[in-house]
Amino acid sequence: MAAHPLGARPTRQGQYEKHGLDFRMTADARPVLITGATGFLGSWIIARLLSTGSKVVATDVTDDRSRIDSLVPPADQGAIDWRHCDVSDGYAVDALFAEVAPAAVIHLAALQIPACRANPVACARVNIIGQINVFEAARKHGVGNLVYTSSIAAKPRGPANAPANLYGVFKKTDEEIARLYWEDHGISSLGLRPFIVYGVGRDDGETSAITRAIRAAALGHAYELPFRTESCFQYAGEVAEIFARATEAHWDGALVSDLTTEVASTDDLLAAIRMIVPGATVTTAEIHRASPTDGFDNAPLKRVIGDWPATSLADGVRETVARFRALEGGPAAATAAGAARKNW
Ligand SMILES: NC(=O)c1ccc[n+]([C@@H]2O[C@H](COP(=O)([O-])OP(=O)(O)OC[C@H]3O[C@@H](n4cnc5c(N)ncnc54)[C@H](O)[C@@H]3O)[C@@H](O)[C@H]2O)c1
Repeated sequence: MAAHPLGARPTRQGQYEKHGLDFRMTADARPVLITGATGFLGSWIIARLLSTGSKVVATDVTDDRSRIDSLVPPADQGAIDWRHCDVSDGYAVDALFAEVAPAAVIHLAALQIPACRANPVACARVNIIGQINVFEAARKHGVGNLVYTSSIAAKPRGPANAPANLYGVFKKTDEEIARLYWEDHGISSLGLRPFIVYGVGRDDGETSAITRAIRAAALGHAYELPFRTESCFQYAGEVAEIFARATEAHWDGALVSDLTTEVASTDDLLAAIRMIVPGATVTTAEIHRASPTDGFDNAPLKRVIGDWPATSLADGVRETVARFRALEGGPAAATAAGAARKNW
């Protein structure tokens, strides 16, 4: 199947022609559409896309702009076209794709492990039906570049050799949905499996504890990580770079990829924190959280975007400490706004 020079590929059924869209428009005339855009990764990806002049249609069910405000001054947010869209509503997703004709889609909208445990049916609507709605809209409206977030939680593990929780089962299902949209409809996609991403704005989900520890050290608070683990800790700026590059790339197939193969322990993390904030009172509880530590493969991603600049743990922690201090005033003066920030 030949790739269109601007990224829009005819599917096996030729939907592009059927829907009469003009795929000879210049790539930069059409926006990147992001779901779950007010979230942690969405805000970092938007900041990265704005920095290189991309047009962004940012969609979410919330109007909370606090994360993007902490990364991009409001005066520089003019290129963001904010839209309300619930990905579990197929009509709304379809109408959005029809209206904005995106050049590329980054589908991030999802509910996290604690929510999936507490309310599995509602989460399945978002994490599974939402995935189908986005792929269906991509099929109908001829989107050639579809990037979505799976998770390391989709990887099989333990005695059952299967995902360890419902969130992981939903993410694994999302990968299978993507595979079938390629096999049945020729829709190419790239499913990325972040492991533990950290940085300013990471305030939801079990593994947000990593960011909380860095924030506490930056602001001079004590903090106990609720678990010890060995894991891949990845800086949000590096992850945003990966997603941004993927929106400009072209590939065939339903690819799934890890983002890194670097494994570190929470002891390594605490050492990095103490190197940057000497005397930081960050510790770990004696509860071991089992995580996959081998079998990572980021080759599919490298085939799509080539090499990207990796951020070491020390550099990512240093950058995160500096950002929290700039936002919240540092150890001497954690601002009332920062101290009161929801979820922290
Ligand atoms: N941050 C990580 O370390 C990590 C690791 C693995 C996978 N992921 C995946 O990456 C994606 C983004 O993660 P994040 O850390 O930014 O999470 P996040 O919780 O900060 O953002 C998710 C966003 O989805 C939105 N959302 C929820 N329900 C929605 C709905 N029905 N319609 C539209 N939007 C809805 C939320 O309002 C939120 O803004 C998610 O799919 C997540 O599962 C993240």
